[in-house]
Amino acid sequence: MKTINHTTNPLREIVLTGDRPTGPLHLGHYVGSLLNRVALQETHQQFVMIADLQALTDYYDKPDTVHHAVRQILVDYLAVGIDPCMTTIFIQSGIPEIAELTVLYLNLVTINRLRRNPTVKTEMQQKGAEEHVSAGFLTYPVNQAADITCVKATLVPVGEDQLPMIEQMNEIVRDFNRIYHTTVLREAKPLIARTSRLPGIDGKAKMSKSLNNAIYLSDDADTVAAKVKAMYTDPNHLRVSDPGQVAGNTVFTYLDAFDPDHKEVAELKEHYQRGGLGDMMLKKRLTDVLNTILTPIRERRALFMKDLEAIMAIAHEGTQRTREVAQSTMYEVREAMKLLY
Ligand code: TRP
Repeated sequence: MKTINHTTNPLREIVLTGDRPTGPLHLGHYVGSLLNRVALQETHQQFVMIADLQALTDYYDKPDTVHHAVRQILVDYLAVGIDPCMTTIFIQSGIPEIAELTVLYLNLVTINRLRRNPTVKTEMQQKGAEEHVSAGFLTYPVNQAADITCVKATLVPVGEDQLPMIEQMNEIVRDFNRIYHTTVLREAKPLIARTSRLPGIDGKAKMSKSLNNAIYLSDDADTVAAKVKAMYTDPNHLRVSDPGQVAGNTVFTYLDAFDPDHKEVAELKEHYQRGGLGDMMLKKRLTDVLNTILTPIRERRALFMKDLEAIMAIAHEGTQRTREVAQSTMYEVREAMKLLY
């Protein structure tokens, strides 16, 4: 394993990204963010955060779920190849400076601006009645600005739904630097994943735990087979001999995302459109493709699960390392705000 000095290399751009621990990670995370992180750790100084405090803005009454999911996500990270010698993995609640920065930033943001944040707005609509939205939920973009600025990250790999978060964070950074006559905080750029969003097995726009349409990195081979079997295809493709639709056919979307043999997939598409190719055969192929990717991940996962103590030590070490960076940012912030007595 390579060792990189995480704190003192000024040439490498600092990347921070994170996940809410509400359950184990799935194939949507794999193509949308995990593979990207495994690549980025080779070229960037990377922090990956398990956002347990942010998860609580939704799951405040389910602390056990969040607690358990932190471990699952940690194991998922390591199993896909996020290497703790190259990436600093940390737990958000282990950095009190994030809470401290959040309080200071809250003065720079109006309630109306938060209500207008498109991500928050959509999520509030999904929740229903606005009077049930907690202050913690409404202000989570400010907390997220604290996540990113505490390590002075300048590049944030996220999904498109998170763009308004980065925009709001940059507003806070500019206001802070202007009002307190400083240059401590740094603006960040979003990095949108190349792979478009993976649909759920039901063909719905997004794979997600709440829609119950996800294939998890932790699913065993039989579960993967059963989920692929239930996958949405072309509802009008009733007989093998019928011509079938490729567009919107989830099995093909997945083959495009995961099957390494693009030439053969192109031939299968043609055959399917001509007629004479059955869904069962395609699904068998997809099951094999997915299990080829997932089997080594599953095996590494099982090994790590046996030694949770060692896994938690990795998280503690990463959190400690992050804390040192956050403390130094905090000192500069206090200095700029005349809070050193
Ligand atoms: N809000 C992100 C999500 O729901 C998770 C997250 C928390 C995050 N803090 C972050 C992502 C900081 C990037 C940077 O997926």
